Formats: sequence, C-alpha cells, structure tokens
Amino acid sequence: MKKIAIIGGSGLEDPAILKDVTEVSVETPYGTPSSSFKCGKIGGVEVAILSRHGRDHSIPPSAVNNRANIWAIKELGCTHILATTACGSLRLEIGRGDIVMLDQFIDFTRFRKNSFVEEFEDGKLNHPAMADPFNWHLRRALIENAKDLDLAFHKCGTVITIEGPRFSTRAESNMFRMWGADVINMSTAPECALANELEIPYAAVALSTDYDCWNVDEAPVTWEEVLKVFNENVRHVIALLQNTIASLQK
Ligand code: ADE
Repeated sequence: MKKIAIIGGSGLEDPAILKDVTEVSVETPYGTPSSSFKCGKIGGVEVAILSRHGRDHSIPPSAVNNRANIWAIKELGCTHILATTACGSLRLEIGRGDIVMLDQFIDFTRFRKNSFVEEFEDGKLNHPAMADPFNWHLRRALIENAKDLDLAFHKCGTVITIEGPRFSTRAESNMFRMWGADVINMSTAPECALANELEIPYAAVALSTDYDCWNVDEAPVTWEEVLKVFNENVRHVIALLQNTIASLQK
C-alpha cells in the first residue's frame, strides 16, 4: 500500500486537497517537525501533508528541521515523498510559471544538519550514495501527468540550494549558471539527501517564479515577486500533485 507524503513549500502551506482529513502530530529523536501532518486521501491513495515552513510560514529556510521532517514521514509509514518548492530560473528557457521535475541537486547550504549519520557505529563506515537522488518512477509519473495536463514543464533540471534567507549576489548567480545549475532555491538540500538516507523515494516539483538576478534585462528577484508568481500558478502544482498521486494507485 502506497502512502504519499507531500512536503508543501512556500505558497503551499495548507492545500485543501484532502478528503476525510485528520491531523497527526509526530515527535522524533531529532525534535519536532515543521508542522503537524494533515492526513487523508487523494484519488483513493493515503496522503500526509507537511508544511515545510510551518502553517503560518514562520520557519526560515535555515531553521527547517529537515531531519525531524523526514524521520516523521518515515515514522508515519509514508512510502514516497512529493515535495514542492518555489525556485528561481537560471536559464532563459525556464520561464516564470514553468514547472521543473528536478533530477539533480547541488548543495550550497552551510549551516544545516545534512545527514542522519553522526558516528560510524561499531567502526562501520557509512557514506550514503547520492549520484541520482531523485526517484525516477516518481519523476516519470509527474512528467506523464504534466503532459496530460498540458502544463509548461521541463523534464529535468539541476537545482542549487543556497542557505538563504538572503537571495544571491549577481556574481553568485552567474557562478551557479557556470556550474550547470538550472534553477535555485533554499530547500531541496539537504531534504532530498535525508530522504535518500532513509530510502524514501523522493521527487520535487519546482515552480519557477523569477530570474534570480543574473538576467540584467530583469529587475532582481524579491520575495514579493516569488509569492505573487507562485500564487498565480499554484493551481497547476496542485492539479499535478492530485493527478500524479491518483495515477500512482494503478
Ligand atoms: N526561491 C524562489 N526564487 C528563488 C531565488 N531566486 N533564489 C533562491 N530561492 C528562491
């Protein structure tokens, strides 16, 4: 039986998309997750929704307790994770409102607990593999459903996650482009890595909201712009999640 965890990012704090909702609070050895879970069903599939920044969006990116979030998702018996995230575009061809099915990340965060591995127990070395951290089956389901919904989307993309809360300088933004990053956000690392450590298949729907600041033809990104563009397009993300989850039952 599949059970899908949705990690809702900025703009998707409390999507009212569940039937028969119950609220479940979980404590973990790593502390309290960002929010309680809203549990219910979509298209007959069990779903638990966590709000990455808290329901009132009071948790800044560096303060998100990713280990508690992922541990709680495992403890709830979730078999898959679909995460959502707003992102800036580092490529002209990724427009505002486009959706990117991430397939790689670059971790440019600095102050986050990025692993469950704290010591090598009994002298056993533990270096988690991370070559392809996004789950192919989930990505394929997202891609097929995005096609059916006729959404503007990109089948793959590398995200660079920065520490935040500040946005990048122009020099940083240009450097990230040279490194091969396609989009930028403040959340995918280490969330995705931690899901991999606990062997929970993970995919992320990244909604492009701005051109960061590398594109000199555009005004540099502001938080107000991110939220405005996300809100204008959030219905696409929700439809994609709903259809994809219903299709996973098959
Ligand atoms: N989230 C949305 N847009 C972003 C940007 N330009 N940089 C970092 N995080 C973002």
